[in-house]
Amino acid sequence: MAGLFAALEASALGPVLLVTKGQLHEGSTRHAQGGIAAAIGPDDSTEQHLKDTIAAGAGLVDEEMARILVESAPRRIRDLERYGVSFDSEGANRAFGREGAHRNARVLHARGDRTGAAITTALAEQVESGRITVKEHTLATEVLLESGSTVGVRALDQGAGAKCIFESDAVVLATGGAGAAFSHTTNPPVATGDGIALAFDAGAEVTDLEFYQFHPTAFRQPGAPPFLISEALRGEGAVLRNDGGEAFMPRYHELADLAPRDVVARAMVAEMRGAGADHVWLDCSALERVDPIERFPGIAAFCRERGVDLRRDPVPVAPAAHYLMGGVRTDSWARTTVPGLYACGETAATGVHGANRLASNSLLETVVFAKRAVEHIAEGAGGAMAPCPDSTPFAAGRAAPPDHAAVQRLLWEHAGIERSGEALQEGLDAIDGWPEGEPEPSREGHEGRWLGVFAELLLTAALRREESRGAHFRTDFPERDDSRWAQRQVFHRAD
Ligand code: SIN
Repeated sequence: MAGLFAALEASALGPVLLVTKGQLHEGSTRHAQGGIAAAIGPDDSTEQHLKDTIAAGAGLVDEEMARILVESAPRRIRDLERYGVSFDSEGANRAFGREGAHRNARVLHARGDRTGAAITTALAEQVESGRITVKEHTLATEVLLESGSTVGVRALDQGAGAKCIFESDAVVLATGGAGAAFSHTTNPPVATGDGIALAFDAGAEVTDLEFYQFHPTAFRQPGAPPFLISEALRGEGAVLRNDGGEAFMPRYHELADLAPRDVVARAMVAEMRGAGADHVWLDCSALERVDPIERFPGIAAFCRERGVDLRRDPVPVAPAAHYLMGGVRTDSWARTTVPGLYACGETAATGVHGANRLASNSLLETVVFAKRAVEHIAEGAGGAMAPCPDSTPFAAGRAAPPDHAAVQRLLWEHAGIERSGEALQEGLDAIDGWPEGEPEPSREGHEGRWLGVFAELLLTAALRREESRGAHFRTDFPERDDSRWAQRQVFHRAD
């Protein structure tokens, strides 16, 4: 969504080239269900949206950036409508869903729970019918620099197997997150952290990589593909139950099933451990306001194919890796610390999510900061984000993992929902054992190396943060420690 939106906005300024390793519509946005947060309902305010965003972020939200986020929301929603996105309504008014840690119902959705697909389709159609040159199946492999400034990218044309160079004085990285680095994820396999590794290799700062959000409710059944069961279901009254049938969440948090995601995910792990099970149950039989099959047609169809009737049967669910709060460190114009290199969407770490993202702020962030990147490029203002004086030089990526599955197992087992110093260190030791050398010059080879870079940075950041905050939970340091850790960790490439 960030890449498509940036390309569309930039196409009014001059020639735009959109390079994507897969097909135009691939990416995590397509799988987004809940929607896009915007305080535009009758009883809502941007101040309340800001408060909820800050509260969810557990002390690390950059307030100035979060204010830009919530205050830009109404304009960006209008932009999306201008590009053909049609949000759902109730009678003459817009329909708003509610999700965890939002004090108001402010989540706009489209085609029920097919919000991401509706947005991607609308934006991709605009891109295809516009003046944008699209190169599909083309993998950007390196950001090219001259005297420290961006001059383009090197890429691999996967069809021809040929290397190519695209010159440009502004490059926007919008490659999404890195859910494919974990064994269980709601993300599609393309989410391999490419933009983070490309920017890191180019010398840009990265930050907040220990903050990886685990969504409480992914479908869990042997052999089933990764699939999100939207929090919006709990927003409409669905409840989590353990094997004994107990609605357990009130025991863990005053907001019960709508508690912050990290709280719900850990509560589920405790219940699953207690029962020796690999899932708990989501009971959707008591929704009062809506019919689950009409309001959530995508989820209902997926479940039906696997023998689960949403109106009647509880859905087997377990937490899965969902969203990376961290990424390439960017300023309010989406600039990285490398001149001419921008990042937006899940690739970027703007600071709006702090240590834990508020539901449905991610789609909003993509359009708010993609727009600002393009505005900045249009002004020709150049420059870069000021480097962080405390950034740590770090040598990552010398070793390549044997395969993607090795990284996935490593992160799931050593840097999952519950972490400890011992497990994190074991994860880093395992990476030390990987063979050194250049990756295979193929998409698979590059992705493997990037997953390895991401894993090493995440494990290192998580090991150093000796406290628990937001999505980062350490069993050996279970308390939040503001005296030492009310700060973000920043890394850049050692050489
Ligand atoms: C969901 O629909 O539960 C996911 C929404 C989000 O992650 O923002």
